[in-house]
Amino acid sequence: MAICLTVGLFSCSEEKKEKEKESKKEEKASKPDLHLKEMMRLMYNDMQANRQKILAGADEMHFSFDYTTMPLADVTTPENKGQDFYESQMKQFIDLQGKLEKSRDNLKRAEIFNDMRATCISCHQTYCIGPLRKIDKIHVLSNEILRDAQFKE
Ligand code: HEC
Repeated sequence: MAICLTVGLFSCSEEKKEKEKESKKEEKASKPDLHLKEMMRLMYNDMQANRQKILAGADEMHFSFDYTTMPLADVTTPENKGQDFYESQMKQFIDLQGKLEKSRDNLKRAEIFNDMRATCISCHQTYCIGPLRKIDKIHVLSNEILRDAQFKE
């Protein structure tokens, strides 16, 4: 992902590096086998699958890996870590994933799904613009789409 790396380095060189933010809690959890870019590909697939599941009113959402391990994964651009915006986007995304996993209300699920999608986009606009075109293929769950969906409230 050459574009990713270039943009990452460019944005890093403009930011003051704040490295000290690694929390003790994260150090205790174990490091995942997946690299962040592999997680990202799985996240894309999960989003597309869960979009269909929400529309069908499925019991369970599908998540391919433990999203709470994302902050511990190896990354191509370690300079992003510790930056306030990066960390807050990561945390927000993980929080939303936890909410989506727990929710059984399809309208609420759709709202959380749209918020997750917005977080994909906002983090990528700052840290990694290359995949934005792919992320664009994850379509919002609009009111119109929800009105036509199969699930019953
Ligand atoms: C916290 C910021 C952040 C969020 C949120 C985020 N991404 Fe990423 N994404 C990244 C970074 C950084 C990389 C580069 C990963 C690396 O190579 O270390 C990346 C890489 C990718 C890639 C390229 C993977 C490859 O093959 O190299 C895709 C596709 C992607 N993200 C999709 C998504 C989708 C879909 C979402 C939401 C479901 C999402 N991202 C949410 C930061 C984020």
